[in-house]
Amino acid sequence: MAQPRQMKLGAFLMTDGHHVAAWRHPDGRPDAHVSLDHFVRLARLAESAAFDAVFLADSSGVRDTNVASLSHTSRAASFEPLTLLSALSVVTERIGLIATASTSFNEPFNLARKFASLDLLSGGRAGWNLVTSSSESEAQNFNAERHAAHADRYDRAREFAEVVAGLWNSWEDDAFLRDPESGRFFDPDKLHVLHHHGRHFRVRGPLNVARSAQGHPVVVQAGSSEDGKELAAATAEAIFTAQVTLQEAQAFYADVKGRLSRYGRDPDHLKIMPGIFPVVGRTEEEAREKFAVLQERIHPVVGLSLLSTTLGGADLSGHDLDGPLPDLPETNGPKSRQKLLIERARRDNLTIRELYLAIAGARGHWQVVGTAAQIADQLEERFRAEGADGFNVMAPYLPGGLEDFIAHVVPELRRRGLFREAYEGRTLRDHLGLPKPVHKAPRSPAREAAE
Ligand SMILES: Cc1cc2nc3c(=O)[nH]c(=O)nc-3n(C[C@H](O)[C@H](O)[C@H](O)COP(=O)(O)O)c2cc1C
Repeated sequence: MAQPRQMKLGAFLMTDGHHVAAWRHPDGRPDAHVSLDHFVRLARLAESAAFDAVFLADSSGVRDTNVASLSHTSRAASFEPLTLLSALSVVTERIGLIATASTSFNEPFNLARKFASLDLLSGGRAGWNLVTSSSESEAQNFNAERHAAHADRYDRAREFAEVVAGLWNSWEDDAFLRDPESGRFFDPDKLHVLHHHGRHFRVRGPLNVARSAQGHPVVVQAGSSEDGKELAAATAEAIFTAQVTLQEAQAFYADVKGRLSRYGRDPDHLKIMPGIFPVVGRTEEEAREKFAVLQERIHPVVGLSLLSTTLGGADLSGHDLDGPLPDLPETNGPKSRQKLLIERARRDNLTIRELYLAIAGARGHWQVVGTAAQIADQLEERFRAEGADGFNVMAPYLPGGLEDFIAHVVPELRRRGLFREAYEGRTLRDHLGLPKPVHKAPRSPAREAAE
C-alpha cells in the first residue's frame, strides 16, 4: 500500500527564539548566542521528534546598523552556521543540517567545498539554503559601498548555483578505489574537471572533496521574487518561504510548482516549506498569555527598527507610531517581504505600531496562537489544500517553544497520520523524499587526454 503523503518539518533555530524579545523571556537563554550546549540540546530535541532538519539562517555581517536599537536585542552576534552545524553533526545521527550561505559574498569553490565536507561528515545530511542577501551593510563587509542591484545578484546566483552543482559532480560515487594492492587510490575515469568559464566565474575544478551518501547536499532557496522563484524552479529541492494566508500560500505553491516542467523537473522534487511561528497553549487563553509575555518585552526602539528593516530599509522616522504606514518606494532589498507586509497593513488597516507588534514575533511569517489541535488544524488545512509540502517551525523562544510544539502539536499531527513516527531513512534526501541525484559527468582528464 502506498504511504499516504506526510508533511516535512524543519526546526528553524534562531539563537534564543524567533520573537525579538525571546532573550528576555523568563525561561529564555540570553547566553544562547555563545552556548554550544544550547544548540546541542535543540538539535537532539528536534531529532527525538524525527524532524527532517534543523535550519540556521545567516547574514554576512551585522545587518542592523542602528546600534541604539540593536543593543536592545540579542541579534548582533551569533555562531557562523557551517561551523556550528559541523559540531552538531557529531552529536546527532539522523536529522538534516541546513545552513544559509550567500551567493553574493562567497566564491562557489569555497562554498561547494564546505557544504560537501559537511555532507560527508554528517553521512549525507547537509543542505545549502541559497540566498542572494539583501542588506547594504553586508555588502560593505565585501569591498563594496552599495549592494549590487537585485537582478544582478540573481544573475550571479544563477551562475553560482551552476558552478556549485558542477563541482559537486567532480567525483563519481565509486571513484575512490583505495586499493593498496594495485596502488590505485582512485579511478581517473571517474574524476571530472569542470572547466567553467562564465560571466561571473572562472573555475577549473575538480572539487577536492568526495561525494557523500546522498550524492550532494540538498539545495534550498529562500527568495520569493520573480527571479527567486525562477531560480528555485531551475535548481532548488526545497523552498523556505513566508506566505501568511492560505490563499497566498496556495498561489505561491501553484506558481512555483507550475514552473518546474520548463526545466524537465518533477514538481514533487521541490518541497515548499513556509515558516510557521506557533505559540502553543493548553487553552487558547493560555496561548494568548504566553504570547503576551513576549510582546510586553518588545522595546519600542526595537519594534520600529525591525519594521523598517523588514520593509527593506524604509525610513519611518518622523512618522506617528499610531498613524498609518506611509507610501513606500520599491526596495532594492527583499522585494517579496516588502510586498507581503504592505498588502497586510492596507488590508487590516494597521498603524505603524500595530504593524510592528504584528510582525515583531514572526517577522512577517505566519503566526498561529492557539491550542495544539488548532495549530494542527491549520497546518493540515494548508498541507492538504496544496499550500505547503511541510513547514519550518519557528519557535517563539528556545528551547521552550520547540519543546511545546514537540510535546503537543507533533503527537496531534501523528494521530492524524500527517507526520512520521520515526525516521525511515538516514540522509536528508531520504527524509525529504528527494531522489539521489544521478551523477552527471561531462568531462574527465583521462577521456580528454584520449581525445
Ligand atoms: C524562511 C526564509 C529564510 C531566509 N533566510 C535568509 C537568511 O538566512 N539570510 C539571508 O540573507 N536572507 C534570508 N532570507 C531572505 C531572502 O531569501 C534572501 O535575502 C533572498 O535571496 C532575497 O530574495 P527575494 O528578493 O527573491 O525574495 C530568508 C527568507 C525566508 C523566507
